[in-house]
Amino acid sequence: GERLDFRASKQRLLVVANRLPVSAVRHGEDSWQLEMSVGGLVTALLGVKEFDTRWIGWAGVNVPDEIGQKALAKALDEKLMQRCIPVFLDEEVVHQYYNGYCNNILWPLFHYIGLPQEDRLATTRSFQSQFDAYKKANQLFADVVNEHYEEGDVVWCHDYHLMFLPKCLKERNSKMKVGWFLHTPFPSSEIHRMLPSRLELLRSVLAADLVGFHTYDYARHFVSACTRILGLEGTPEGVEDQGKLTRIAAFPVGIDSERFIKALELPEVQDHMKVLKQRFAGRKVMLGVDRLDMIKGIPQKILAFEKFLEENPNWRNKVVLLQIAVPTRTDVPEYQKLTSQVHEIVGRINGRFGSLTAVPIHHLDRSLDFHELCALYAVTDVALVTSLRDGMNLVSYEYVACQESKKGVLILSEFAGAAQSLGAGAILVNPWNVTEVAYSIGYALNMPADEREKRHHHNFKHVISHTAQEWAATFVSELNVTIVEAQLRTRQ
Ligand code: ADP
Ligand code: F6P
Repeated sequence: GERLDFRASKQRLLVVANRLPVSAVRHGEDSWQLEMSVGGLVTALLGVKEFDTRWIGWAGVNVPDEIGQKALAKALDEKLMQRCIPVFLDEEVVHQYYNGYCNNILWPLFHYIGLPQEDRLATTRSFQSQFDAYKKANQLFADVVNEHYEEGDVVWCHDYHLMFLPKCLKERNSKMKVGWFLHTPFPSSEIHRMLPSRLELLRSVLAADLVGFHTYDYARHFVSACTRILGLEGTPEGVEDQGKLTRIAAFPVGIDSERFIKALELPEVQDHMKVLKQRFAGRKVMLGVDRLDMIKGIPQKILAFEKFLEENPNWRNKVVLLQIAVPTRTDVPEYQKLTSQVHEIVGRINGRFGSLTAVPIHHLDRSLDFHELCALYAVTDVALVTSLRDGMNLVSYEYVACQESKKGVLILSEFAGAAQSLGAGAILVNPWNVTEVAYSIGYALNMPADEREKRHHHNFKHVISHTAQEWAATFVSELNVTIVEAQLRTRQ
């Protein structure tokens, strides 16, 4: 009913995520340069405009001294549209919590890669200290939330870094409205049960009032983990534990599509497009844009492109693959190995199929600024998103948003959450099957205009009607409703 519709009011929202939308780089003693952070979480949350938002997170640097901390807090508060409040984590905590428990244990497990196996004993020993650091870091986030919390605020916790946070917050203030959203897949309960801290993590997430996932499948996996591993009861609304209901539902994220569509009109974007068109005149452009992460299937994508060139000599001088891969989590050894592996494959293929004047693959190890990125999306004929697993994948949405005039083709992994929303317009592939991906590249490059148009139209409609704004408004509204309903239940 009307009384439960909270969307109209400008409600205070505390967003809590490991990473702030900007990362700080030290510039002299107490001055900081702020750079945009890269990733789907930041892209989605920056699109959220209808709340009075404070964003609490780590600024990506170690700031041991109090004067430096104050200077950075001030810079973050002043500069941005959404006010940012830093959480300070020392180097050892970052090493054990972020590099260790988050990115070496939870991330690979949630993406079906498994747990680290090198030295089982060492892993078991360090596992406990990494989990302790994880809990400690989550407590530090809770401290900062408490400091800034005002009665009535909605506290929205994000991602696998902060699974322990709902419990920390509720223990301090049981009346706080707490939501938690996962930006990655939640794996089958058979995978989750491998995790030594499986019980504690599930229980602390369940302390939230509302728990959200990108897809219905991830939500179902989470409910199964709670029923099978914790022995709790699943209901149509969520999971029940001794009379307390935690609501669990799917809230597929989107992008701020307007921002991309409008950017295409800007003179600087048009200039970039002109340069790119000249540079690749006479050739079809294929594009990959990813963080350089093992889940993105970058080596598999490049090997499929090699197979395509091998089998289609007539295309060799007529197509180019631009792979833009921004380095990420560079202190984690698995990511370092991936960088050299990708460089090695690209070098070999360019050596094999390149000429004195042109190479088939341009690989960049860096991020592009927003205008360059929009121009690149707009001039691309075929985008290749071949994630081995991916919570959603917003690159696929961004590409579609920028293709109104060209109507290019999207080749999309069936293991990305986006396959459930853009599957009808994209060519879906199993990224492990290099033969299938190579075939799809040929199919996409040869696709007639009317089929391209039909497929694009289907996806474009989805991308402009399922935006980041809508995602956040729906989640927050649902959280408010959940709490009112719980209050009504206890009064009955
Ligand atoms: P993830 O959250 O795993 O990084 P997504 O595809 O959901 O995956 O989101 C990635 C976001 O980061 C997108 O908004 C995309 O534009 C941005 N991004 C990724 N790689 C680059 C790059 N090389 N340069 C600029 N932006 C990038
Ligand atoms: O869920 C994807 C994610 O883990 C988000 O937290 C973030 O958008 C992205 O990957 C970037 O990762 P990091 O914060 O480790 O650089």
